[in-house]
Amino acid sequence: MTQEKIVLTGFKPTGRPHLGNYLGMLKPSMALMREEKRRCFYFLADLHALNVVQEPALLRSYTYDAAACWLALGLDTSKVVFYRDSDVPQIGQMASLLAPLLPKSLLNMAHAYKAATAKNKEAGKSDHDVDEGISIGLYQYPLLMAADILALGADYVPVGKDQQQHLEMARDVARRFELRYGPVLKAPEPLIDQTMATIPGLDGRKMSKSYDNVIPLFEEPTALRKKIQRIVTDSSPPSAPKDPTQSTLFDLYKGFATPEEIASMEAAYRQGIGWGEVKGELFRVISRELTPAHEAYGYWRSHPEKIELLLQEGGHQARSIAQKIYERVGRAMGLLA
Ligand code: ADP
Ligand code: TRP
Repeated sequence: MTQEKIVLTGFKPTGRPHLGNYLGMLKPSMALMREEKRRCFYFLADLHALNVVQEPALLRSYTYDAAACWLALGLDTSKVVFYRDSDVPQIGQMASLLAPLLPKSLLNMAHAYKAATAKNKEAGKSDHDVDEGISIGLYQYPLLMAADILALGADYVPVGKDQQQHLEMARDVARRFELRYGPVLKAPEPLIDQTMATIPGLDGRKMSKSYDNVIPLFEEPTALRKKIQRIVTDSSPPSAPKDPTQSTLFDLYKGFATPEEIASMEAAYRQGIGWGEVKGELFRVISRELTPAHEAYGYWRSHPEKIELLLQEGGHQARSIAQKIYERVGRAMGLLA
């Protein structure tokens, strides 16, 4: 009999989730939940969000918002251990145990840190001041992420492509642990759907809260139509053949359409189709998929007390599993009796 595999993922409650989050991570996490022989751990990475949101009421609101999105999309707490990072202190303890194994030079290469130092350099800071305004929290964020993953014994981690580097670091830490102390921690494998790896936003760059180019996951129909209208296209006339591989609209369409619809849209691109028509079709397939969940989202968003109960229960389960792993790891390292 093959053993149950552990699937784990999380995301930072730092603003309204968008279609990039949905196609890159939330939708795949729901599909994995429905597979056989999977034990899922899905969490709200509120400890990570502290690097971005330092307003307590806002962080709490974003956290319930992120939870409401997942629940509205069908997260079933009888199949998923659903929790907040901050409810599992063993994760922070695990980060302390792993820190001595993680070379500082590896963290120097992490995307978020490199982007922050690059910004300082562009602003004319000297080499001495490149770290200005960069917190230890941001710097060691890949360590906390490795602890999130290793503390619960994950086999698979569904994420968008931008998280690949962090997954490699988590695998690296697990390997270093094994070399030094033996086979206690599992090296997690990223699950990245290559067709949905990087969803473009309104301006064609990666859709991201940081670029102000997002289409929110649950948007009212009029606002959704307006956002879709704003997606940048070229000025070719409707009759001109178009390349579907170079089109933000087509990339988004693929995330919501059936295989038949995708094939017929691809043919229409090659023959010539007006951008207005493509935008109308995109609106139709997004609404078809998300309208039912949008209604459920409204329900969850107005019942934070129900979300809280679910998170408390999930936190309890996650703590008990993480405690066992923490003790095994600590003992292997010569701590604990
Ligand atoms: P943002 O860049 O908007 O801050 P997050 O870093 O919170 O998004 O990402 C949460 C999850 O959604 C991660 O698994 C990430 O890989 C995925 N994700 C975010 N943006 C995209 C995108 N444009 N395409 C595919 N996946 C994405
Ligand atoms: N770093 C991820 C993001 O920005 C969120 C995250 C934190 C995560 N810990 C994780 C994702 C563990 C997967 C597994 O989206």
